[in-house]
Amino acid sequence: DKKITIAIDGFSSTGKSTLAKQLASHLGYVYVDTGAMYRAVTYYAMEKGYITTDSFNKEELIADLPKIQLQFKFNEALGFAEMYLNGNNVEKIIRTLEVSRLVSKVAAVSEVRAKLVEQQKQMGADKGIVMDGRDIGTVVFPDAELKLYMIASAETRAKRRYDELLQKGENVEFEDVLQNVKERDSIDSSRADSPLVKADDAIEIDNSDMTITEQFEKVVQLAHKAS
Ligand code: C5P
Repeated sequence: DKKITIAIDGFSSTGKSTLAKQLASHLGYVYVDTGAMYRAVTYYAMEKGYITTDSFNKEELIADLPKIQLQFKFNEALGFAEMYLNGNNVEKIIRTLEVSRLVSKVAAVSEVRAKLVEQQKQMGADKGIVMDGRDIGTVVFPDAELKLYMIASAETRAKRRYDELLQKGENVEFEDVLQNVKERDSIDSSRADSPLVKADDAIEIDNSDMTITEQFEKVVQLAHKAS
């Protein structure tokens, strides 16, 4: 098999990262979670006070973009790469509901997208990569050999995200998580720059009623066919 590029897009909590991690480890590929990059920039903006629940000073964030350095560092013990923002491990903090509530606003800023997309393209220059996000098959790697578009109902997705947050010890209400999932879906699919859309040549995967193993087996076959 030759090394290929695998692009996985879809709404929040469709199981993209679970699938992407499994695929990457099975194929010996690099896995890149682009959502973590948008989350890290959002966390930076929150720390600086550029964004709050009711204000967003885009210009200040845009002016700071050259100062924002993002890096993935593989953690051997965990078996996956963690996100570093200007040298600090932000892997945990970027997954909180506070960051989830603001990330779609930051991700709608074209200057932010341009910076992250450029870095993502570089990471995939040698292929052998599985990347997940919202615009991977459409903007980052329009020539990817395999494109997947994942879907599942909002309730199924909110339940997954809710269980995940509880497991991490976060004190959240299901209704708040469901509302956040729906709000991000709406912003992510209606923004002007790189909205979430299914690429024409993407294969749609609805995993509402599929186990993680069933889904994995189906996609591994697709990956070998595309290699
Ligand atoms: O994948 P995850 O849910 O962690 O992504 C967080 C947010 O980052 C998304 O809701 C979306 O607003 C943004 N995002 C994006 N483009 C990507 C990946 C994530 O706009 N490629």
